[in-house]
This record gives sequence, C-alpha cells and structure tokens, in this order.
Amino acid sequence: MKIPILDLKAEYAELRDEILPALDRVCQKAAFILGEEVEAFEREFADFCGTKHCVAMANGTAGLHVGLLALGVQADHEVITTPNTFAATAEAITYCGAVPVFVDINPATANIDPKLIERAITPRTRAILPVHLYGRPADMDAIREIADRHKLRVLEDAAQAHGARYRGRRVGGLGDAAAFSFYPTKNLGAYGEAGAITTNDDQIAKFARAARSHGQTARYEHEFVGYNYRLEGFQGAVLRIKLRRLYNWTARREEIARAYREAFSKMRIEMPVDDPRDECVYHQFVIYASNRNAVISQLAAQGVETVVHYPRPVHLQPSYSSLGLPPGTFPHAERACERVLSLPLRPNLTAEEAAYVTNAVREAVGEKPEIQAKRAT
Ligand SMILES: Cc1ncc(COP(=O)(O)O)c(C=O)c1O
Repeated sequence: MKIPILDLKAEYAELRDEILPALDRVCQKAAFILGEEVEAFEREFADFCGTKHCVAMANGTAGLHVGLLALGVQADHEVITTPNTFAATAEAITYCGAVPVFVDINPATANIDPKLIERAITPRTRAILPVHLYGRPADMDAIREIADRHKLRVLEDAAQAHGARYRGRRVGGLGDAAAFSFYPTKNLGAYGEAGAITTNDDQIAKFARAARSHGQTARYEHEFVGYNYRLEGFQGAVLRIKLRRLYNWTARREEIARAYREAFSKMRIEMPVDDPRDECVYHQFVIYASNRNAVISQLAAQGVETVVHYPRPVHLQPSYSSLGLPPGTFPHAERACERVLSLPLRPNLTAEEAAYVTNAVREAVGEKPEIQAKRAT
C-alpha cells in the first residue's frame, strides 16, 4: 500500500462539481482581486473564529507581517517567539525591522513555554508571537497574563490551527490579533497562496485593510506606505466551499488522531501531550523517535510517506546565524527537531490506511517493554 502524507488530488475530485462553477462565477464577475467572494469569506471565517473581523491577506506570512505592524512593532523592537516553527514566523518580525527573541518550548507540548518568557523581556520588547504548532493551542492564558503585566501586545500565529480551541475558545480571538495561512496543505487550504488576519479590534482591522492595499483608505488615498497583500477572488471562492466542510474534516482528523494516540501509547515512541481542556486540530500528527532516520526508511519501505516538521529550529538556520545563537541555546526545541516525525493524517485517510500506518509504525519502533512483558505472560 502507498500512503502519501497528503492527497489533494483526491480532495479535489470530491469538490470539483462545486469548485468549477464557483471559479466560473468569479470570472463572470471579473472579480479577480478581493471582490464579493473574498468579502463573503471574510464574514464567514470571522464567524467561524468568533471574532469581529477577518481581513483576507495574500498569504499567512503577509498576515503575520501586517499583524505585527498593526500592533506597533517597528525597527529595533523585540518580539518574543518560539524557535520551533516554520521560518515565516521569525521572518515577519524581521520584515518589521525588529528582532526575534526566541524562548524555548515546553517539551510536553512543543509550544512556547510561558514560564521562560518573562526573563526574555527587555525594554525593547513590544509583542509576543506564540505559534499554535501542529494545530495545538499555545498556553494563551499564561501568555496573556504576562503580556498584560508588561504591557505587551500578542499576535497568534494560527497558521496551523484553524478551529482549534483553547479552554473552549477558538484560536484567532485569543490575542490582540491572529494570522492564519491557507497554504494549500493547511487544514483549510486555498488553491494558491492565501491568508488572513482575525481580530476583535476595529483599529487593527482598519489598519490591516489599508496595509494590504498600498496603504489606501479610499481609492488613490494612500495614508501610509503599504503593500500589495491582497487576496485573489478565486481563493475566496475556494475557501468558502472548503470552510463549509472544515467541521467534518476536523472531526475526522481528531478521530484518526485518537486512534493513533491509543495505539502509539503502547509503542516505543513519544508524542506531544494534549490538554483535555483544549482541542487540537491535528494539522500534523507528530511522533518523537530517537532513531528517526531508521524509522523514516522503514516506513518508506512500507509505502508510508513521512515529513519532518521541522528538521532545524529557526535559531540554527543559516538565515538567522547573525543572531549568534549556537546549538544548545534552546535544548528542548533542538531535541524536538532531532526526533520529530509527521505521519499521514488527513481527512481522506481511510480507517484501513490508518490501521496500515499504525502497523507499519509498530514494526518500525516496537512495543514498549512493559507491553511486551505483559504479552509474554
Ligand atoms: C507556523 C506557520 N507560520 C507561518 C506560515 C506562513 O504561511 P504562508 O505560507 O501562507 O505564508 C506557515 C505556513 O506555511 C506556518 O506553518
């Protein structure tokens, strides 16, 4: 059996009869940039997140960039974030002329450890940028409390966490603003580049709308130097169709994740921990294996595709070598990157395929000694 990590072609086959007429509507109206479909998507996604505003953006990185600018991040400011993320999180800080200040992760959750944030705060700190990595919400109450005490702003990187809940509340409305990515492989993915900012703050939304379109507040009235970060009409149309399925897709992800967790709890691997008060939407299902390369090869030999998210923490990327942070600076993030492995988990994975993956993992890593012992008695 061949089990790819993603199967977007199969997903399209299911949606084709709805997608093609929707794209045709965009063409008929020649609403190629922003337009009705994007505006409708903004309303629907804001409803989904339970926020007052959603401002569609060209991609998630643009959302992070404009989100930080909206929070007042400028040259020489510092923004506290996690090194265990995709490079875009740190890049958005750099685009503002500010400096990313990394804080290690809680090894149990793979997300930024709030207990380590306070000691990273300096007079230049302006904001905290937690990432809900793999769809698992960061510890937002603890982060919010520190931010309030130090008068810092909070931008959520919700690129991987559409619909995730922290203590019953959806991500996207837990900080001052949030940035989402709708990159095609995301839980809610467009058919090209796409992203959004969500917020309950009218001023942030107003700024983001102007910033995404060259700083315009009215046609050819440029209040400030902005960007071309507008979303295409086609993407709005696709996202509306897929958003309607996101509830079922997420439920399916969670169902597969429960089955994996149950089976893997008996094997010689570790997994990030889920807080029972929260809802992780399993953008990635990751395991930690000390002999990762051997596991990758054994799974590949069985036809199971895996990906490493991410092989190197951002502070050890050549692009951030100027920060001068050597290996050993953030031991938990570094250890996670050395051992982490993402397995196939997607809404269109069948029960049979999930069972196949489980068996392949069991063969590759073996059962825990206590399970083997129990079996022997
Ligand atoms: C955690 C995280 N932040 C930011 C981004 C950037 O989003 P985009 O690729 O849409 O620019 C991504 C996704 O690629 C991501 O996974």
